[in-house]
Amino acid sequence: MRRQGLPSLQAPTQRRLPPAPTRAPPSAANSCRMAGQPTAPAAAPSTAATLPAAVQPTAAPAAADAALPAAAPPAPPATVTSGEAAWRETCRSAVAGGRGDDSESAQPPDQPQPQQQSRQERQASGLLAGRRQLLMMGGAGALFGGAANDAAGVGSTAAAAAPAGAGACPPAVVGSGATGFGAIPRGWRALRDPAINRGLATTVAVRQQYGLEGLLPARVTAPAVEVARAAAAVQRAEVAAAAAAAAVATDGGGGGGGASLLPYCTLMALREADKATFFALVQQDVERYLPLIYTPAVGDACLAWGSLLPRPTGLSISLGDAGRVARLVDNWAAGQPQARIAVLTDGERILGLGDLGAHGLGIPVGKAAVYGAAGVDPDWILPVALDVGCNTESVVNDPLYVGLRRPRERGPAYYHLVDETVTALQSAYGPGLLIHWEDVGAAQAFPLLERLESRGVPTFNDDIQATAAVTLAALLGAERLRGVPPLEHQTFLFFGAGQANLGVAQLLCAELAARGVDPAAASERVWLVDRRGLVTSDRSDLSAAKAKFAKRRPAGLPAGGGSGGDLAGIVAAVRPTALIGAATVGGAFGPRVLAALTQAQPSPSSRPLVFALSNPTSRAECSFQQAVEGTGGRAVFASGTQFPPLRVEGSGGGRPRVPAQANNCLVFPGLGAGCVASGAARVTEGMLLAAARAVAGLTSGEDLEAECVLPRVGRLGECAVEVAAAVARAAAVDMVASSGGGGGAATCVAPLLLASSSSPPSSSSSAAAGALPFGAGVGMAATGVGATGGGRDALEECLRGLQYRPLQ
Ligand code: NAI
Repeated sequence: MRRQGLPSLQAPTQRRLPPAPTRAPPSAANSCRMAGQPTAPAAAPSTAATLPAAVQPTAAPAAADAALPAAAPPAPPATVTSGEAAWRETCRSAVAGGRGDDSESAQPPDQPQPQQQSRQERQASGLLAGRRQLLMMGGAGALFGGAANDAAGVGSTAAAAAPAGAGACPPAVVGSGATGFGAIPRGWRALRDPAINRGLATTVAVRQQYGLEGLLPARVTAPAVEVARAAAAVQRAEVAAAAAAAAVATDGGGGGGGASLLPYCTLMALREADKATFFALVQQDVERYLPLIYTPAVGDACLAWGSLLPRPTGLSISLGDAGRVARLVDNWAAGQPQARIAVLTDGERILGLGDLGAHGLGIPVGKAAVYGAAGVDPDWILPVALDVGCNTESVVNDPLYVGLRRPRERGPAYYHLVDETVTALQSAYGPGLLIHWEDVGAAQAFPLLERLESRGVPTFNDDIQATAAVTLAALLGAERLRGVPPLEHQTFLFFGAGQANLGVAQLLCAELAARGVDPAAASERVWLVDRRGLVTSDRSDLSAAKAKFAKRRPAGLPAGGGSGGDLAGIVAAVRPTALIGAATVGGAFGPRVLAALTQAQPSPSSRPLVFALSNPTSRAECSFQQAVEGTGGRAVFASGTQFPPLRVEGSGGGRPRVPAQANNCLVFPGLGAGCVASGAARVTEGMLLAAARAVAGLTSGEDLEAECVLPRVGRLGECAVEVAAAVARAAAVDMVASSGGGGGAATCVAPLLLASSSSPPSSSSSAAAGALPFGAGVGMAATGVGATGGGRDALEECLRGLQYRPLQ
C-alpha cells in the first residue's frame, strides 16, 4: 500500500511520481524558451487535441499510472539539482506528453476518444510529477510568478511555476488547469477556458491562435477596462439586491437577509471566469470588496449554498470516500498541482451560524479569496470540505443540501477520514503542504491541531491562532491610546471560552510573560465565561485549557448563567478593564453590561476595551455605536465584522472615529505565506507573537488618531508581507524553518539565512536564548524577530517579489 499513516517530514518517494512520457521530439524540446526570446510557435491546435480532463469521467492519475506501459522511463531524474533545471524537466515532460504521438494528434479537437482520455491523464500525471519534483526541491518560489502569464491570457498555471529567468513553456503546449495539462482547447472549448478567454481583453494573437475570432466581440480592450466592467457589474448587482431587500422589507418580510448574495454570486462567477480580473478588482479596493467576498457575505452564502451553483469551488471528501481519498485528491491535483496551503473545514461551526455540514465549503472558498486579495497566489490555496454529516435538521432536510444526510460522525471514522485526507494531500503535494483548519467544531479544534502537530504535519488553526494574533495586535494598538493602561495592569474578561477566546487568552499570557510577568500572575489577570457561566475552580466540567484560568468564585456571585442577562453581574463582580466577546451571542453586550463595565473602570478617564469578535454581524456582541453609547463615548472598540465610522460629540475634535476590524484576515495570509516561505514544520507561539507585533507595527499614528487600533483592512497586502517576514524570521529562531530540503516548501530561504547571519543574536519570546535557526544542520547564528540589516530587507524584498499581482 502506498499510503499508510501520516508520513514524516520527508519528500515523497519517487515511487509516488508518475513516470514521464516516453519521448520528446526535437521540436518539442526546443519549446522551452528563455525569457526574452520570442515565443516559439505553438503546436497547431488541431494536432494534439484531447478531451479536457475537467470534462472527463473521473479517472485519477493514479489509475493512469497503472495503465502506463511497463517500458515507460522513470520520473524526472534525481540528478536535477536546481529549481530551473526541474522546471526545464517539467517543461520537457509536458511537451513530450503533449506531442509524442502523431497518430492521436490527427484527431479533430472536439471528438472525445476513450483512449485519448488515458493519454490526457498521463499528460496531467507527467506535469504533476514534474511539479512534485519542483516542490520537493524547494524551487517553487516562482509559483507566485503567474501574473505575467495571466496578463498574457494563456498558460497561466504551468508557466506560473517557472523560476525567475527560467524558460517558459509555450502556453499551447501546457494548457491550463481548467482543461488539463497538455490539452490544447480551441474554439468553443477555448471560449470556456478562463486561462485563455480573458473576455474582451483577449489579445488578437490569442484569439487567432485559439480560434476565438467571432466567438468574442471584435473590440479588444485593456485589462483595466475589464476590471472597470467588473466593478460596474458588481455595483449593478448591489443596487438590484438593495432594491429587492427594500421591497421585501416593505412587504413586511424583514428584508436585508441575503441581500449580499447577488453581488457575492457576481463576484464568484467572475472569479471562475476570469481570475486575474477578479483579483485585480478586489486588490484595487480591498476595503470595498472584502465584505462582499468574505464576512459578512460569506455567511449568507453558506446558508444558501445549496442554491448558489458554485463550481468548481473546492475539493469535497465525504465519509463515503474512506479508502479512496487519494484518488479524489489526485483528481484535483491534476488541475491544481501547485497548491501549498490546504484550507480544511468540517463545517461544524460556520462563523456563528452553527453546523452547516457540507455547505461550510463556502468558508475555505472565502479564505482562498482573501489569500489572493492579500497577494498570496490563489493557485497556492486548495479549499477542502470534509463531509462527515450534519446535526442541523433544517440543513440536512433541505432538498437542495449537497452533503450526506446523516448525523455528524464523532467516532473514530472522523479521525480516520482526517488522517487519510492529510496523508493523501501530503502525498500529492509534498510534506511541506500547510494544513490550515477553519471553522471546525469546538470539540475537534484543539485535538485536531495536536494530532497533526504530533505527527510533524505543518498546520495551524485560523480560529485559534490567527485570531489570537490579530486580537493581541488590537490590544497592543489599544495600549498606545491615552486612558488605556498597559496590558500588564489590565483585567480581561473573555465572554465565550471556545477556540477564538482561548487562543487569545493563551497568546495574551505569552505576551505578558515576555514582558516579565510571572505566568501564574498573567493567568490571574484573565477571566473566562462560557455558556455555563464564569469559569471558576468550583466547577467540575472544565477542560484543561479552561481550568488553567479557573479562579475562586467572587463573593456574592451565584453559580451558573453565562448568557447576556447575567453578564452584567459578572462584570460588576470581576471589574474588568477589557471585555472580549467571542460567544456567538448577538447583542450580549447590552446597555446593562456596558454600564457595569464603565462603572468598573479605575478612574473616570480610564477607557474600557470592548471587543465584539463574533461573526457575522448578526452575532456581534454589540455594534460600534452601541459600544460608544453604552460607555458614554469611552469604549475603545474592535469587531470581527466591519462597522461604519462614527462622529462622536465632544470627542476627538469632531473627527470620525473608525472602529478596528479585528478579523483574522489581517494575519492568516501572512502566517500561511510565512510558513511556506520559511518551510516551517510547525507554528510556534513565537511565530504568533511575531505576527501580532508585525500587525501592531503597521497601525499608524493616523489610525490611532481615529482610535482605530489596527491597520485598516485596505492594507491587507502590506500586512501579509510584514506578517510573513516576521513569521519566517521567528520560525528560524524557533528552529522550525526548513533549510529547503526535505520539507521542500521553503521559498525565501536564502534571504532568511542572510537575515539570520546579519543580525545580532536574540530570540523570539518562546525560543531559548542562543537557539540556532534552521536546526543544527545549518548552524547559523541565532536571530530575532526584530532582526535588521540587509538580510531583513532581502527577505521582505523576496516576499514582496512573491506577491500575486494579476495585472502587473
Ligand atoms: P466555539 O464554538 O469554539 O466557542 C464558543 C464559546 O462561546 C464556547 O465557549 C461557548 O460555551 C460560549 N458560549 C456560547 N453561548 C454562550 C452564552 N450564552 N454565554 C456565554 N458563553 C457562551 O466558537 P469560536 O471558534 O470560539 O467562535 C466564536 C465566535 O467568534 C464565532 O462567531 C466566530 O465567527 C467568531 N470568530 C471571530 C474571529 C475573528 O477573526 N474576529 C475568528 C474566529 C472566530
